[in-house]
Amino acid sequence: MKNIISTNQFNKEEIEAILSRSFQMEGDLLNHKAEKILKDKIVACIFFEPSTRTRLSFETAAFRLGAKIISAENAMENTSAFKGETIEDTTRILCSYSDVVVMRHPTSGTLEKATIVATKPLINAGDGANQHPTQGFLDLYTIKKEHGKLENLTIGFGGDLLNSRTIRSLLPLLQHYSGNKFYFLSPKELALPRDFIKSLKDTGVEFEELNNLEDKLPELDVLYMTRVQKERFENKEDYENVKDLFIFRKEYLNKMKKSAIIMHPLPKINEIETEVDLDPRAAYFRQAQNGLYVRMALLAYSLDL
Ligand code: CP
Repeated sequence: MKNIISTNQFNKEEIEAILSRSFQMEGDLLNHKAEKILKDKIVACIFFEPSTRTRLSFETAAFRLGAKIISAENAMENTSAFKGETIEDTTRILCSYSDVVVMRHPTSGTLEKATIVATKPLINAGDGANQHPTQGFLDLYTIKKEHGKLENLTIGFGGDLLNSRTIRSLLPLLQHYSGNKFYFLSPKELALPRDFIKSLKDTGVEFEELNNLEDKLPELDVLYMTRVQKERFENKEDYENVKDLFIFRKEYLNKMKKSAIIMHPLPKINEIETEVDLDPRAAYFRQAQNGLYVRMALLAYSLDL
């Protein structure tokens, strides 16, 4: 039984095996040869926060591999969490009905708490601003697929770096690969947390925090944009003050390499002008589709199949 709680738990060998399995899953699916390795398994998906991609791609992945699904969305209101049931008790119950549990929760650390009582593998589908490991893997997979490598790349991260669980999940994976350089652009209120900056320094990664990413656009192989995470703000005014401070405009495309890609975990709101969607370098819809193949591989990994 293997939980997937944080990308920090994986060594390079495991990461490479998961990427390789994801490529295999993609090939099998596109050739209509996906093996029903989850036949007779039940996958429970419980989402205490809204989701389009993560929940539906997990459910599709499970279907494609032959599993049955039990699913609770809007779980804060539609499950007994509404009546005050603890996450531990909810986890015990889900584990007694299913073979693997996929869970999203707004509170950081909830999945770790749930692992203490879990008797089946738990997969973190996002816990607050902490981790979103399956997104980290699909992002890594997308970079590998688009660039053919994970080393010697220059990657710019823009937006709400403070609350981005996707960046917190991708960076530990990228740190296994050498020669990469990172630029971070955010309003100062939304900068990467200092403890995270310290951990980057400790591992000797080359990075720079910037006030303006425009000058660096010609250098980038990947621009990874994020949404300002409205749901993490206690004060609406604070959100309004920062929500539009960095918007990727279509004219910026002229400054970027032909081989560069623009990524975004989605949903995007107005941080990327919609005209950018038509440029072949806009990789975010391909990135979301990759989530299906990667989640097929991660379901197999969690069940040792
Ligand atoms: N990227 C992502 O987690 O999207 P959803 O919130 O739609 O699942």
